[in-house]
Amino acid sequence: MTILVTGATGNIGRHVVDCLVRRGGEPVRALTRNSTSKRLPERVEAVSGDLKAPDTLGRAMTGVTAMHLISIGGDDYAPLHTAEEVVARAVDAGVRRVTVLTGTEDELAVLEAVAASGLAWTHVRPVELMSNKLGWAESIRSEGVVRAPFAEQPHAIVDEADVGAVVAAALVEDGHSGRTYTPTGPQALTPVQAARVIGDAIGRDIRFVELSPEQVREQMRASGLRDQVIDDVIAYGADPPQVAYTVLPTVRQVTGRPAHSFQQWVAEHADAFRSASATAEGPR
Ligand SMILES: NC(=O)c1ccc[n+]([C@@H]2O[C@H](COP(=O)([O-])OP(=O)(O)OC[C@H]3O[C@@H](n4cnc5c(N)ncnc54)[C@H](OP(=O)(O)O)[C@@H]3O)[C@@H](O)[C@H]2O)c1
Repeated sequence: MTILVTGATGNIGRHVVDCLVRRGGEPVRALTRNSTSKRLPERVEAVSGDLKAPDTLGRAMTGVTAMHLISIGGDDYAPLHTAEEVVARAVDAGVRRVTVLTGTEDELAVLEAVAASGLAWTHVRPVELMSNKLGWAESIRSEGVVRAPFAEQPHAIVDEADVGAVVAAALVEDGHSGRTYTPTGPQALTPVQAARVIGDAIGRDIRFVELSPEQVREQMRASGLRDQVIDDVIAYGADPPQVAYTVLPTVRQVTGRPAHSFQQWVAEHADAFRSASATAEGPR
């Protein structure tokens, strides 16, 4: 009886792993494309495998009864196109329960593949992770500036640790089968408000510069993202669906404790936003 976590070295997956280890219980196995280069907790077995090459998953799947499945196939965030083969191998291996993590609409095919297989599934679809704000860290450290689009659009951003806790509960507890969970934080914050929370935590006035959608497009192109992803991000930012800014009680309902606030998340990650001199001196 082993739990396999795919995406185990990622923003969400590492918290799924930590939560499962903290809970004790079944052994935890982590899938990674390069098992030598990533740090995982000691009690976790790291196994190499590539979701885009299902033939490589034999060792990872052996003895697995529950699996956490991501819906992307690589670092470009393209949707996973091999879900049917991955799921067929999971069924053959004796997997009974799967959590499926999705972000964009085009990743839903992975959930459909799992549902069609007859395996018990739980769908977890966070809207926006607090860790995305680490993308602001460099310009905050070096210039005290945030440059971002859609300055006044609120988002119910969620701590990735809370998403991990929801996934872990769905993997090991009964009663989550066939459900779709959208974990959110306890508040919907605009980017301007989020920048203010960071500024308060590090004792620094942060200037907010609103970028136009075209400026964002150029930035994202320069970082190598696909046009489809860029279009989706911009369309979503300009006209977010209700789910993007609606605070839901999911984290409390599934885990039994309240969702972490952005203030709590920033307190844990404040050093990422402090310049080297401020970190050496301590908070002002
Ligand atoms: N970021 C957000 O705001 C957000 C919001 C909603 C949903 N999501 C969803 O969360 C999932 C993961 O996002 P994340 O932010 O945690 O990602 P991340 O931090 O960028 O990590 C990606 C993870 O996926 C693994 N991976 C990528 N391609 C793989 C492949 N071909 N075979 C095996 N493993 C592979 C990587 O493992 P190795 O590098 O170790 O191989 C890594 O652990 C996605 O399904 C995404 O849609 C993210």
